[in-house]
Amino acid sequence: MASNGHTENTASMKRNKSFTELLGDNLTFDVKAEVFLDGHVKSMDQYNQMHKQSVEDPESFWTKIANQFYWKEKWSGKFMEYNFDVRKGDIFIKFMEGGKTNICYNVLDRVAQETPDKIAFYWEGNDPANCKTYTYKQLLDEVCKFSNVLKSKGLKKGDRVALYMPMIIELVVAMLACARIGIIHSIVFAGFSADSLAERLKDGDCSLLITADYSVRGDKSIDLKTVADNALKECGEDGVDIKMCIVVKNSSAEGDGTHSPKQKKAKTSVSWNEDVDLWWHDLMTGASNDCQCEWMDAEDPLFILYTSGSTGKPKGVLHTTAGYMLYAATTFKYSFDYHEGEVYWCTADIGWITGHSYIVYGPMANAATSVMFEGTPLYPDAGRMWAVVEKYKVSKFYTAPTAIRMLMKFSDDFVKKYDRSSLKVLGTVGEPINPEAWLWYYKIVGEERCSIVDTFWQTETGGHVIGGMPGATMMKPGSASFPFFGAVPVIMDEDGKEKEGVEVDQGYLVFKQPWPGLMRTLYGNHSRYQAAYFERFPGYYCAGDGAYRDKDGYYWITGRIDDLMNVSGHLLSTAQVESAIVEHSSISEAAVVGYPHPVKGTGIYCFVTPKNGIRFCDALVSELKQKVRTRIGPIATPDVIHEAPGLPKTRSGKIMRRILRKIAAGQTDIGDTTTLADSTVVDKLFTNRPQQ
Ligand code: PRX
Repeated sequence: MASNGHTENTASMKRNKSFTELLGDNLTFDVKAEVFLDGHVKSMDQYNQMHKQSVEDPESFWTKIANQFYWKEKWSGKFMEYNFDVRKGDIFIKFMEGGKTNICYNVLDRVAQETPDKIAFYWEGNDPANCKTYTYKQLLDEVCKFSNVLKSKGLKKGDRVALYMPMIIELVVAMLACARIGIIHSIVFAGFSADSLAERLKDGDCSLLITADYSVRGDKSIDLKTVADNALKECGEDGVDIKMCIVVKNSSAEGDGTHSPKQKKAKTSVSWNEDVDLWWHDLMTGASNDCQCEWMDAEDPLFILYTSGSTGKPKGVLHTTAGYMLYAATTFKYSFDYHEGEVYWCTADIGWITGHSYIVYGPMANAATSVMFEGTPLYPDAGRMWAVVEKYKVSKFYTAPTAIRMLMKFSDDFVKKYDRSSLKVLGTVGEPINPEAWLWYYKIVGEERCSIVDTFWQTETGGHVIGGMPGATMMKPGSASFPFFGAVPVIMDEDGKEKEGVEVDQGYLVFKQPWPGLMRTLYGNHSRYQAAYFERFPGYYCAGDGAYRDKDGYYWITGRIDDLMNVSGHLLSTAQVESAIVEHSSISEAAVVGYPHPVKGTGIYCFVTPKNGIRFCDALVSELKQKVRTRIGPIATPDVIHEAPGLPKTRSGKIMRRILRKIAAGQTDIGDTTTLADSTVVDKLFTNRPQQ
C-alpha cells in the first residue's frame, strides 16, 4: 500500500479485529426473517443472479428499470459506452446517450399527477414545535413557480447556480427548479466558510447564488447572508462578478418557535445590497405555477458537487441526468428495501452527496415520503432522533457512524423512551463503522430486529456501490458486504495486478467497469479527473480507499489511502488545512495528519513550527484554529495543535508523515528512523505532546 495511508489502514484493521474481541466467533448476524417477507430481494441466490445480469448484460438489466421512467425520446444508440483505459485515449462514460428525459419531471410531476396529496416531506424544524408537511403537488407548484422566477431572471439551460442554504424546503425547491429547466446546480454545504464558498462559485463560474438570511441549528443561529456577502465580494475581487443573490427569509418563518432569545436578537437585521440581492418571497409572489420542463439529453449535466482533493483544491464532481437518475432510484429502492407507504429518514445535509441522492433524488424517484430535518441530534436533547422516529413512524433510517458514536455516549434511556417499533432498516454511511457503534445501533436502536445496511460509496459514485440487501444478506458488522448492481469491485496490488481468489488481503479498491451513476468528469478539468481516478491503474476506476475481501466474499473497507482525512464522515485534505495554517504570520511550517478520534473517527492533528522568536501559547493556538475555520469552515477545526520546533524530514527534505501519524496516535514505536536528516526532532516532539 502507499506509505502515506499506512497508519489509517492499520488503525481500521485493528478496529475490525476488535469485532472478534467483542463478538467472539459469532461474527455474522441474520435479520428477523418475518420483517422482510415482502423484501425486494428475498435471497442471496436472487441477489447473485441479479448482480450477475447487471454486470454481464447491463443493457437488459438497466433497460427494464429505465422503462419505468418517462422518456420524451428513447435513446437510439448504445446503452453504455466507455473507456476506462488512459492508454487507449481519453476517459469517457456514457449511458443512454441521445435519450431525452427530465429528472424533475420523473421524480415530481409524475407522482404529483398520480397522487397529488401524497406527502413528499415531513419537514421537522430545529424546534420540535416547528414542523410542516409538503405534498408532491404543493412541491410541484413551488418548483414550477421558482423555475419561472429563474427564467425571468434570464437563466437558461447549462448555466450554473450555487445554492448555499439551510435544510429548509426552499433548498429542495431550488434544486428541482434548476433540474427542471436544465440549470446545473452546485450546492455548497452551509457550514463552509466564505472562502470555500467563493472558491466553488468561481470554479463553477456561477451566475447566481441562492441563500437564506439565517440558519438555525441547535441553539445557534448562523448569519448565512453575511457569509454569502463576503464570498461574493471575494469573487468580485478576483474578477468574477456574480450579479444576483436570491435570499430566503428564513428568520421569520410563520408560526415558528425556532429561535432562542439569543437567536432572535441575532436575526433582526440582514445586510442588503439593492443592486444584487432579491428576496425569494418577493420573486415568488405572482409567479406562475405552470412551467414546462426542458427535455435534457441523458448525458446533459445535472449537478456539480465539490469534494476534497489531495492537492487541497476541491474537485467539482459532475453528474449527468439519466444515469444518475436510474442509479439513485435503484440504490434507494434496494438498499433500504423501500416500499410504498413507508416513511424514510436520512439525517444527512443536502449539501453533501448523501443528501442529493438519498434525501431528494432517490427517495422522490420512488415516490417516497421522507422526513427532512433542520436541526441537530442533540437538540433539545440526545433523544431527538428517536423522538422524530416515533413521531413519524419512520421505518427506514439512514445516518453516519459519527452520529451513532456521539449519541451512544448518552444514556440508553434517551433511545428507549421512544417507540421504535416502526424501524426495519438502519443504514450507515461515511466511514468504516466500529464494532461498539454497530452493536449499539443494532441492539439498542434496532432492538435486534432491524437490518443494518452499511453502504460504501462516494460523491463520485453517485450512489451505493457496496452494501447489503436487507433481509437477504447476512450481516457482518463492519463489512459493507457485497457490490451493488452494476458494480464490479476488484482488490488491486501495488503493481496493478488484481488480487486473485475469493479471500484476499488488503489492497487498493478499484472498479472494473462503470455503472450508470458514476461521475462523468470534474467540472472544467477533465485532465485532473483522469489523473486522480484513472491513471494509477489504467483500465480501472480507483476509489482511493483500501479494502480486503474475506473468505465469504465480503468486502471490508479499511479507509483512505491518500492524504484525505475522513473527519466525521467528511473528507478533508491535509494540504488544505496546512495551507490555511501557514497563512498565519507566526508560522513557518505545518504538517497535518489524521489520528483516531472517539467520536469523529478521525481527528485533525496539526504539527506547527513557529517562526524564530515567536512564543507558542494558547492565544496562538486559538488564532490558528480560527484561521482554519475562516478558510475552510468549522468542520475543519483542528483538534490538536502541537508545537514542532522541527519536523521529521528525510535528507531530501520530505516530511515523514508516517512518523507524525504515529506520534499523533500516541504510539511510541515509530519504526525505522535512519533515513531522517535529524532524528532528535522526534524526541522533542515526544516531550512536548500537548494534553488532549
Ligand atoms: O473513504 C470512504 C468513506 O467516505 C469516502 C467518500 O466520501 P464522500 O465523497 O464525502 O462521500 C461520503 C458519503 C457517501 C469514501 O472514499 N466511506 C463512505 N462510506 C463508507 C466509507 N468508508 C467505509 N465504509 C463506508 N460505508
